[in-house]
Amino acid sequence: MAEEPGGALLTPTKNIEDKSMTEKSLYERLGGYDGITGFVNDLLPRLQGDGQLGRFWAYRGADGIAREKQLLIDYLCASAAGPVYYTGRNMKLSHKGMNISESDWDIFMGHAGATMEALGIPEQECNEIATFVSSLKDDIVEAV
Ligand code: HEM
Repeated sequence: MAEEPGGALLTPTKNIEDKSMTEKSLYERLGGYDGITGFVNDLLPRLQGDGQLGRFWAYRGADGIAREKQLLIDYLCASAAGPVYYTGRNMKLSHKGMNISESDWDIFMGHAGATMEALGIPEQECNEIATFVSSLKDDIVEAV
């Protein structure tokens, strides 16, 4: 069958347009940059104030903590398909040597769940966040 001139080029373009008109990115559904910053604002004090996880932030300067917080916001925005370029290190490199254990990880996930609940994030988005974060586990948790 003869192809219409330009057909091969027009079809993918149309698909991309259709998708962007019907599906919002996770970034958009979480409220964009401000929504994700709100998520991090709620989560970090939970982690830092936790009896077991607090050791990871003990004796660190305020500026170092602020820098890490900014990188976490950027990382989450970029990972949720937002218009942000993440300039930090990858997850394996940035957590290597901290000896983050299975138990630390479970507590972290508990706090992330509490943040999602506190902010009233809908179930669909909670599931997408949990799936994404879980995919990072092998890079972050170290076998002790
Ligand atoms: C038990 C779990 C975790 C603990 C205890 C933890 C702890 C930390 C600490 C202490 C730092 C600062 C490292 C430094 O200044 O050199 C850091 C950096 C970072 N973490 Fe985590 N983290 C955990 C899980 C995660 C997860 C699940 C994510 C992503 C969703 C994440 C994203 C980041 C990012 C983006 C940075 C900054 C990387 C950079 O400095 O270039 N962390 N984390």
